[in-house]
Amino acid sequence: MNKPVVLVAEELSEAGLAVLGADFEVRHTDGADRSQLLPALAEVDALIVRSATQVDAEAIAAAPKLRVVARAGVGLDNVDVEAATKAGVMVVNAPTSNITSAAEQTLALILASARNTAQAHAALKNGEWKRSKYTGVELDEKVVGILGLGKIGQLVAQRLQPFGVELIAYDPYLPPARAAQMGVKLLSLEEVLKQADFITVHLPKSKETVGLIGDRELHQVKPSVRIINVARGGIVDEGALYSAIKEGRVAGAGLDVFSKEPCTDSPLFELDQVVVTPHLGASTHEAQEKAGTQVARSVKLALAGEFVPDA
Ligand code: MLT
Repeated sequence: MNKPVVLVAEELSEAGLAVLGADFEVRHTDGADRSQLLPALAEVDALIVRSATQVDAEAIAAAPKLRVVARAGVGLDNVDVEAATKAGVMVVNAPTSNITSAAEQTLALILASARNTAQAHAALKNGEWKRSKYTGVELDEKVVGILGLGKIGQLVAQRLQPFGVELIAYDPYLPPARAAQMGVKLLSLEEVLKQADFITVHLPKSKETVGLIGDRELHQVKPSVRIINVARGGIVDEGALYSAIKEGRVAGAGLDVFSKEPCTDSPLFELDQVVVTPHLGASTHEAQEKAGTQVARSVKLALAGEFVPDA
């Protein structure tokens, strides 16, 4: 009997592949390359992706046998869940696999942005010993505004507390009492923009959040504010951020995500006040192992017609 075919369209941890084991025919393709992905989908029962593969209506239509799409990570913005559901395809993810890694990457970018770590590192490796140019700011007694106090936002809040910061947040879905238990004051977006010395984004990408921090919002912030985005590109409008930094209305930014990825060229890269990383929030051995094993287990259950619990 033919084994069900699982198409792995992006890198999956060894541990995840081991969970799939010998019960399936595991095939690999480069999901970011449509000319490879679409023909490869013709015979697959399950598809495993990270964030670079667009699982849109066209991809789903190209996979008539598809029963499950598994996202080895949290965000589902690259999967057309509606089209999948219409086609009877289950969509699963690994909602907690990389939240610690994403929170830690946020801390890394907050500190790097406060202390000009990346810029000073690059200059020194270039033979430049510049101490005053890279004078930074302390976190102590600063106000940190968290946009989105979900799983990752909460971990960020916990990790920031020992730095002596005041924590405020914008989250229209969380009861203020729950935020207060975490030592965070919930405010309107406008108030967070006005008060924060650091703003860190932890929202999913959706119609409501794309461009949430645009030109109008960046005219309301303190000129000393640093903006961190380890969530999704496009929530902070890149053009508006560029102008705000250029015009001295924003002091700096730490960006791990971009509106179009891969992003190897951006006007933001020209600005010394901006530290960037290539979507590394979930890129730790631990997170990849957890994401890989969680989705592989879900795929196994789904293809066996069994109940798939939340990972
Ligand atoms: C996520 O949404 O979980 C991350 O962006 C995962 C990834 O790096 O692919």
